[in-house]
Amino acid sequence: MTTSPSPSPRPFHHPLPQSALHCAGVSLESLARRFGTPLYVYSADQIVERLGLFQQALAGRDHLVCYAVKANSALAILKLLADRGAGFDIVSGGELQRVLAAAPEAANRVVYSGVGKTAAEIDLALEAGILEFNVESEAELTLLAARARKLKTKARFALRVNPDVFAETHPYISTGLREHKFGIDIRQALGIYKSAAANRWLQPHGVSVHIGSQIRSAEPFGAAMQRVSKLLRQLARQGIVLRSVDAGGGLGIDYHAGNFDAAAKVQEYAAAIGKALRGFEGRLLIEPGRFLVAQAGALVARVLQVKRNGKKTFVITDAAMNDLIRPALYQAHHEIVPVRPRAGKPRIVDVVGPVCETGDFFARDRKLPPIEPGDLVALLDAGAYGMAQSSNYNTRLRPAEVLVEKNRSRLIRRRETIADLLAPELL
Ligand code: LLP
Repeated sequence: MTTSPSPSPRPFHHPLPQSALHCAGVSLESLARRFGTPLYVYSADQIVERLGLFQQALAGRDHLVCYAVKANSALAILKLLADRGAGFDIVSGGELQRVLAAAPEAANRVVYSGVGKTAAEIDLALEAGILEFNVESEAELTLLAARARKLKTKARFALRVNPDVFAETHPYISTGLREHKFGIDIRQALGIYKSAAANRWLQPHGVSVHIGSQIRSAEPFGAAMQRVSKLLRQLARQGIVLRSVDAGGGLGIDYHAGNFDAAAKVQEYAAAIGKALRGFEGRLLIEPGRFLVAQAGALVARVLQVKRNGKKTFVITDAAMNDLIRPALYQAHHEIVPVRPRAGKPRIVDVVGPVCETGDFFARDRKLPPIEPGDLVALLDAGAYGMAQSSNYNTRLRPAEVLVEKNRSRLIRRRETIADLLAPELL
């Protein structure tokens, strides 16, 4: 059997072995000079391409890809996706405001998840006319009905059921087991739909699940959908016909170097879901976040110092855990590459930031090519849950963000200033 090489999963490359790392036709060196570091750089083309993979894989059925805004909520990225037909999965009133600011016409393509929605957030979403509330408890359904009544409107809802499916991933981002805080026990869902169907302020519209994040195999998605399928049949027997199934997000990427065939992964995923939902005529919603934006993004940092302590060598960059917390929080792996590679023997180093915590590291005992102070490095696969989880810890200004589209770059968020940080404070 011959295997064709799978396409590179990342939009960053060296046009020539000695040249700087580029995103499409744009050199990261020139971006760093122009906008400073640390700097997030995203490829618009890859984000669009990844959205297309899901849209093509689901083309045979009524579907809507609802991008999980939490992965990267930059307005320019929301607009990019909205313009190509995407909907959105939000988890707060703030995220809804972002969607409304970037693409108001997409309000009716929004699904609203989350275990703790406030009355004010629900009102905002009802007024915006979102597609569906993914309701996570009976108490929330009662609140939703009360708010809908107050605003004299009918709330379309899906119960987010907890299918009790185990998905192999980091324990902090696994959500589909009965012991987790998410969703409603699938065994109780039938009764809740029945009573809600009798409420004139509520419209049973769909059912949703989300079993976790960074899930590498298609199998748990299929297993969860099989349980949902069974529930749909039980509901139909009671005369409750749902219009949508929301399969959640969670499809993982490969953070390690090497080949990763994104198109094949999406096809497997779509096939597993499609097979389990055979016979369901309604609309399939999915909520991918990471898969759309992670590999499109890199965090570009400048090396401040290279320091030896005992046997260890530390490469200290101007980016830190406040800019990208995934390694510190989940022991996550991110590939790190010099923007302009130097010849010479690789060394084992720790790559760390300037924050006053031992947990402020990007890599430990990593074999990297020679790196000198003043060099630029790129932390790869940083487009999802990077900037979105950044903070001002140590009173550090958050990075600027640049979007590269068809060989042109544009600033989509300027670097913060100290005035931005101090503005809300009172003496
Ligand atoms: N839908 C719901 C209801 C979610 O809770 C999530 C993610 C998604 C969709 C999108 O999942 P994705 O396709 O991105 O895996 N900060 C962590 C990930 C947290 C995920 C939380 N929920 C990380 O950096 O790995």
